[in-house]
Amino acid sequence: MFNSNDTTFVFSKAVLDWFEEYGRKDLPWQKNKTRYSVWISEIMLQQTQVKTVIPYFERFMGRFKTVVDLANAPVDEVLHLWTGLGYYARARNLHKAAQVIAQDHKGHFPSDFDQVLALPGIGRSTAAAILSLADNQPYAILDGNVKRVLARYCAVEGWPGNKKTEDQMWELANALAPLSQREDDKSSVKVNYLEHSNYTQAMMDLGATLCTRSKPKCEACPVISHCMAYAQGRQNELPHKKPKKTIPTKHTYMLIPIYQGSVLLNKREPSGIWGGLWGFAECDLDDSKLTFAVHSLEQDVGEQDLKREPLDGFRHTFSHFHLEITPLLLHLSKAPALKVSEDTKMWYSFIAPYDSKVGLAAPTVKILKILRENLNVAGAKI
Ligand code: ADE
Repeated sequence: MFNSNDTTFVFSKAVLDWFEEYGRKDLPWQKNKTRYSVWISEIMLQQTQVKTVIPYFERFMGRFKTVVDLANAPVDEVLHLWTGLGYYARARNLHKAAQVIAQDHKGHFPSDFDQVLALPGIGRSTAAAILSLADNQPYAILDGNVKRVLARYCAVEGWPGNKKTEDQMWELANALAPLSQREDDKSSVKVNYLEHSNYTQAMMDLGATLCTRSKPKCEACPVISHCMAYAQGRQNELPHKKPKKTIPTKHTYMLIPIYQGSVLLNKREPSGIWGGLWGFAECDLDDSKLTFAVHSLEQDVGEQDLKREPLDGFRHTFSHFHLEITPLLLHLSKAPALKVSEDTKMWYSFIAPYDSKVGLAAPTVKILKILRENLNVAGAKI
């Protein structure tokens, strides 16, 4: 899997040497590190940028100096100090976990991996980050930044959110971390496993500063010489993006008989898409079918010289297909001869739409809005 012509190359050594010179070392959560303070920072940093987190972290730690302070606080106060950070489940879980620690661990944040993992709101990578960053315990992390670094370094195929790909990445994360080289060191370069904390921070920093999603700064990367994505010129392709589901596209006309500010709507069958809602008659994009459909409309509107006017099409997407809709106005030349049954058909005023309280399909709403905005139709209701 590794491109290791050069057997003396050690990934973690190169990463640690780079960290020495370029890594971030003065972030507030890197001072006087404890498992508690690292935990708070790691949770805040999920889905949130470092510069946003800094003032929140400082206020939070100023107020809740210990895990017991946090456990004893009203949850409303915790949420108050979280206001603006978003994803409030994170704050609720912090509070719950603090209470578990107060009750089950005598107020001491546990140092055992499985006990940390069992706390509310802590997953495998966060548990590893806390124990590695705070205690130098040899656990590898796999957050979004690290996934990107590994996907490129080892040219991992597949979307990292996919379970199989993720499992493969956990294996790589463990294999490359200093621990494995301590236990099974076949190379001539030794890495001190006590630097695990720096290694974890370095991996985060590498992903955040060099191995970025777009425009990675490969020339500055300490592991460029063995990066498979770089060797293959695939650093912009990897990691693979979440696969888009390919769904078919169907096309339809929506037929819109229109006369003086009102349009003819049909009630749809109770089952199927837009079941029971009101909408326009549909027809495939086929000339003979269209001619037939327009003829059958004449049963509702009487003999007319229906002038056709297509409007700009738009797409409506369902979970399993796209529907390309071409609205086709059918201008009545005179007042409709026939009154229609209110049960399944009605003349609907798009100028005074609130007269009719009915459920409308989403594209119907859109078309009515287009008509209201673009047509200068005198508003006599039929
Ligand atoms: N993102 C998650 N953890 C981080 C950390 N310790 N430093 C900087 N960014 C991070």
